[in-house]
Amino acid sequence: MKNVISYLEAQRPRALEGLKDFLRIPSVSTHPHHREDLRRCARFLADELERIGLRNVAVNPTAGHPIVTAEWLEAPGKPTVLLYGHYDVQPAEPFELWESDPFDPQVRGNNLYARGSTDDKGQVWLHVKALEAHLRENGRLPVNVRLVIEGEEEVSSENLEAYLESHREELAADVVVISDTSMFDYEKPSIGYALRGMAYMEIRIEGPNKDLHSGVYGGAVPNPLNVLSGILAELVDGDGRVTVPGFYDDVVILEDEEREALAALSFDEEGFAGKLGLPEVTGEKGFSALERLWARPTLDINGMLGGFTGEGSKTVIPSKAMAKVSMRLVPDQDPGKIVRSFTDYVKSLAPASVKMEVICHGTGKPVLTARNHPAVTAAHAAITKGFGKEPVYIREGGSIPVVAMFEEILGLPTVLMAFGLPDCDAHAPNEKFHLPNFYRGIDSAAWFYEEYGRVR
Ligand code: BES
Ligand code: MN
Ligand code: MN
Repeated sequence: MKNVISYLEAQRPRALEGLKDFLRIPSVSTHPHHREDLRRCARFLADELERIGLRNVAVNPTAGHPIVTAEWLEAPGKPTVLLYGHYDVQPAEPFELWESDPFDPQVRGNNLYARGSTDDKGQVWLHVKALEAHLRENGRLPVNVRLVIEGEEEVSSENLEAYLESHREELAADVVVISDTSMFDYEKPSIGYALRGMAYMEIRIEGPNKDLHSGVYGGAVPNPLNVLSGILAELVDGDGRVTVPGFYDDVVILEDEEREALAALSFDEEGFAGKLGLPEVTGEKGFSALERLWARPTLDINGMLGGFTGEGSKTVIPSKAMAKVSMRLVPDQDPGKIVRSFTDYVKSLAPASVKMEVICHGTGKPVLTARNHPAVTAAHAAITKGFGKEPVYIREGGSIPVVAMFEEILGLPTVLMAFGLPDCDAHAPNEKFHLPNFYRGIDSAAWFYEEYGRVR
């Protein structure tokens, strides 16, 4: 491993330049006009995987964006790692809030700024660089690997499920490894053991068949925005609890032991609020901020549309109103059940005077991952070496719906090796990757393949 680590140290500038090239391709999966960029990005990644010596590198077309796969299976008797990641990114808008072009990566201080730097191109790239070092220095890998890097994670992995279903054999492995989550903070490298699930809904309300003068008509006709805001206000009560019937029925209550473990992480609630310009944290009564973020379900309005929002004033009763609402779910909530209950409940709150439509835009199951798997032990040892300190075990508030698919379709457990930071601004303007963690992440990944190869 000494040669691998010194290779990596010598190659740091090249690793950074390669990542910048990867980040220059605007692989925004949700925008149809970037379709060609996604193909280009998949090809760029595949070329690199070929260059470092992986076998059977392929850019697999799907009904949406391609899935990049590769393998190296020349370590008989050794375990097989399925490395999953995504090369697609969130839209960069609003562009004007970026200090530098989101697709022209820039180093400022200790950070590399670009859309996708942390989520997830940087965290994919660090694994590629770790694999490269093993192959270049030793001509082999300590374990077998299969790579599945998709281009639709940020749009609910629409075509991955079918791909997994139809490629079970080619994807046989012992464990899935994912680096697409955040460390607890700068001081604490982390291994994740839970992700929240998701149900993303849209509510559309239609009242009068056209916009109306609010003086001439106001008082005698329903106002879709009044109706919608009234309904939305009902969805969370004064104690911060979601009012959708049955919402908490399947929520697994935190054991005292886990509550203590979370408390032992000494999360700085005041600092957390302060950095966001807030006087204090809020949320469901009776729970700490960490419990609310990681182990309790939520309901949030993501956006609303309707009526007059331009400068100045215009007296109008809008014909239509719309809101996007997401619910983060925790074990053992079932997204399908939540979607049905939400739909029925919201419809029951609508007065007969308006038309309402409730649409589901995607779901993902919450997951808890095994903590006693040999790959977790290997990840622990690897991160300890890469960061010079032991990782803590954390849950994550975010969602990676494919983790449940890997478990259900391929029967595989997942290890979440986190290298992002909570303030990396993923999905927001000025997304960045903390470069010291990029390099420690590469070393940790290199150590991981080595350590996991030692288990048998
Ligand atoms: N990498 C994130 C998920 C994440 C981030 C998990 C930080 C834990 C900590 C992923 O790319 C993502 O954004 N997921 C979406 C899922 C949605 C599109 C179904 C999310 O969490 O909003
Ligand atoms: Mn991600
Ligand atoms: Mn994301």
